[in-house]
Amino acid sequence: MVQPTSSFPSDFLWGAATSAYQIEGSLDADGRGRSVWETFAEQPGAIEGGGDAAIACDSYRRWGDDLDILSQLGLGAYRFSLAWARIMPDGRGRVNAAGLDHYERIVDELLARGIEPVVTLNHWDMPEALMAHGGWAGRESVDAFTEYAVAAADRLGDRVNWWITQNEPWIIQLLGYQLGLHAPGVRDLRSAVAAGHHVLLAHGAAVDAMRPLTRGRIGAALNLLPCVPASDSPADAEAAWGSDGYVNRWFLDPLLAGGYPADMRQHWERAIGGSLDAVIRDGDEAAIGGRSDFLGVNFYTHRVMAAAEPGPDRPFPWQVVGSTGEVARTDEGTEIVPGAFRDLLVRLHRDYPGVPIMVTENGAISGDSPTHDGRVHDVRRIRYLRSHVQAMGDAIAAGVPLVGYTHWSLLDNFEWALGYRPRFGLVYVDFRTGERILKDSALHYAEIARAGGLVE
Ligand code: NOJ
Repeated sequence: MVQPTSSFPSDFLWGAATSAYQIEGSLDADGRGRSVWETFAEQPGAIEGGGDAAIACDSYRRWGDDLDILSQLGLGAYRFSLAWARIMPDGRGRVNAAGLDHYERIVDELLARGIEPVVTLNHWDMPEALMAHGGWAGRESVDAFTEYAVAAADRLGDRVNWWITQNEPWIIQLLGYQLGLHAPGVRDLRSAVAAGHHVLLAHGAAVDAMRPLTRGRIGAALNLLPCVPASDSPADAEAAWGSDGYVNRWFLDPLLAGGYPADMRQHWERAIGGSLDAVIRDGDEAAIGGRSDFLGVNFYTHRVMAAAEPGPDRPFPWQVVGSTGEVARTDEGTEIVPGAFRDLLVRLHRDYPGVPIMVTENGAISGDSPTHDGRVHDVRRIRYLRSHVQAMGDAIAAGVPLVGYTHWSLLDNFEWALGYRPRFGLVYVDFRTGERILKDSALHYAEIARAGGLVE
């Protein structure tokens, strides 16, 4: 029996999320170094529409406006990221105090307004200088990230209660190093699996180094995609399980269950045609696991999987096929599956018991723009939001220790390789003027946050 959504605890954090590169602009301000995304965005065809993040939402300068919006909506948490290259412009060594000053102002102002900062350290904008060592594909990235994490925690650790070291390791690995669709644009399987491993290893090393500097809780945010078999054939069931290993368990198990799943390690070694022993060294798994205070979950949709022969563009014996029946979809065709969200949360609680969960991203693309009345009537986003809040309420009623929800995104912003076309914001941004307009979804979300659950 599904309980009413008043099952949300009274201290549940209702918030919204952004990331530095997607909103800030001002890429040369105050001693910021270059990140891998500037280099990537300069490649012809890399960004749909040919745009870049030079201005984006102009939030480096307009951050006060963004905080005013959070206050106006009555939200209790703001998930944002620090731009790594503002703090470590050369990748290693020198710390740029001006970069830290900027984020200290934001953190202090959030706290003054009673809004909990949820700080992400790596939301994909690695300093370009670290590409000299292969970026995340090189093991030096672990020490570089740890230095940065220490600099951040040294300045902000006494005030920040929620830290997210890494955002979406699978996407960094897949789009950044396997398919080359994100910075740094590498297309190499061996580099990809190494990058994913170093991202996790850097999480472990950073947590250990940050502990003396903060009493805040430290976790990583994974994008998790329930993998569903396309049919009831055993082959498709195996494909779905394999895909679950690739997307979900490859990251969940080392973080929360002590080591990489053996079945997926075999798939990887088959795909790269050799052992992973030189990448995943003795002691590495022990240095990743058992350290996270909570799990961040980014949830958007599921993957419907069928068995397939591996080939030149298909390293593993499965493929995404999509649902065949009637399924609600977003503007971009993403399947909307709140039931899978509830089931995922329940599964996480079952398979990794005792780990508090924060939903660090969830949202939908919906292209609505202001109408004649000056308002943005994004009814599909409201529907998406409500169904996913319902799913969280159901999960909590089933015993899942959910602590918060930061909707993606506070603002329409720079959606990486897709440029500015996909709009994820609760708030509409006019990218020519920087003007912000609260969409109907923002107002509706404010009511949910105020009531602590779904309102009629
Ligand atoms: C994942 C990423 O963390 C975020 O940067 C991105 O904009 C959203 N999901 C939507 O794709």
